[in-house]
Amino acid sequence: MRIMHISAECYPVAKVGGLADVVGALPKYQNAIGAMSSVIMPLYNNAFTNKHKFISIHDSQISLGNTKVDFSVLKLTESILDFDIHFIHINGLLFKDYVYSDNDTDRFLAFQIAALDWILTLNDKPDFIHCHDHHTGLIPFMTQESFKYESLNKTPTITTIHNAQYQGWMSYENLYKLPRFNIERVGLIMWDGMINPLAAAIKCAWRVTTVSPSYMEELKHNANGLELLLRAESAKAIGILNGIDSEVWNPATDTYIIENYKKTSIEAGKKANKKWLCDQFNLDESKPLFAFIGRLVGEKGAELLPYALDYALRSKDISVIVLGSGSKDTERQLFELIPRHTGNYNAFIGYDEKLSHIIYAGADFLLMPSRVEPCGLNQMYSLRYGTVPIVRRIGGLKDTVVDIGDNGFGICHNEVSIQDIVVAISRGKDFYKHQKEFKANRKHIMSIDHSWKVSAKAYINLYNSIN
Ligand code: ADP
Ligand code: GLC
Repeated sequence: MRIMHISAECYPVAKVGGLADVVGALPKYQNAIGAMSSVIMPLYNNAFTNKHKFISIHDSQISLGNTKVDFSVLKLTESILDFDIHFIHINGLLFKDYVYSDNDTDRFLAFQIAALDWILTLNDKPDFIHCHDHHTGLIPFMTQESFKYESLNKTPTITTIHNAQYQGWMSYENLYKLPRFNIERVGLIMWDGMINPLAAAIKCAWRVTTVSPSYMEELKHNANGLELLLRAESAKAIGILNGIDSEVWNPATDTYIIENYKKTSIEAGKKANKKWLCDQFNLDESKPLFAFIGRLVGEKGAELLPYALDYALRSKDISVIVLGSGSKDTERQLFELIPRHTGNYNAFIGYDEKLSHIIYAGADFLLMPSRVEPCGLNQMYSLRYGTVPIVRRIGGLKDTVVDIGDNGFGICHNEVSIQDIVVAISRGKDFYKHQKEFKANRKHIMSIDHSWKVSAKAYINLYNSIN
């Protein structure tokens, strides 16, 4: 079974968030159970590209409306990943030192068209085309409706919605940039007067998945305008919980962290990582350490953090570290909190993969007060590193964290509010005081299995169910 994943991100090549982690892991675990899974993504001008060598295996040109755009398909000279990966290289358009910007219409249109043009030329065509998020949302439409891709119209397409907040909207004037199709079919790509790639994918893909069962249900009531569509298409839609790459995220072997540890050495291991963090960030290691890692956006409840943390820190009995970037206002407010709570609070505004691993390893608690969380990987990483997740009951967080009050292992709250976050932190503090139970719990959470084994198989079963 040949599966081609098409995505804007893939770890370790280019990562903005969890999409990269998923696309960097799912193919590997699908291959481990006998599939032939590969990835095609844009080539960006980033650290990975600068560090590795590529060869061109295909050069051609696409039309984006009246503009001719040259592209090449590149592959790595050495196989360093556990799956084949190909890159669409378009100088000046895709090849940037960022993944996303405010105006990506032409970039991802060109990416999708070039990817399909290349697939047309392959001798061994994929049996399934698996698209991720709106950046690849027009592919299911194009394979079904564009005249030049007619030979692909029997190849099933699957779209995974990682986040329905972003839909790739573009104005109607961009219609002429799509490869020719019967204009009477234009309704398939429209939603609310705009070209909407995510809506097009939901309408045209043979199957639609999202990254947790709860989010699938939530989408029927809250999908940034696509609720009715998701209800209408629910017969072909399913939520499959993400896994984590348990080789990359393994405290026993993680090369980013300060001291490796297993369940049997958890106390010493977490202590060493916590000490390093507290030394680096001027925090008190004798207090419970609460952390936040993530994009500083409304979906993550991030704009409440400065207020909730300011309040929680008044009692001076906790340490807090924040790693994130996003909204400039929230970044500034989190930064301004540092002098107010010197010695108990610090923030690293930016993106730092290594630091994120050390925080998962060294923190006692991880905060996720998300407004929307399709799956969330942070809570699963934190479990694997013996760090207690404090989450809002929503989406994938609801599916993966059970409150200690319900015989579970984490702390859950219902609302995205300053009060709920502060109360949850306070419950964490109380739990930390009961060191015997706290230590037993962290050993327990390290062994909760969120590896890809089950979900990689669930996707294969889904492909097999298509006939
Ligand atoms: P989302 O994809 O919505 O951002 P996820 O929980 O699925 O949320 O995944 C977030 C991923 O990005 C995790 O691997 C997390 O560790 C990482 N991450 C987020 N922000 C940062 C940051 N500032 N520095 C390092 N890693 C980050
Ligand atoms: C999205 C979601 C996040 C999910 C990730 C990977 O970015 O916001 O909840 O874990 O995709 O599927």
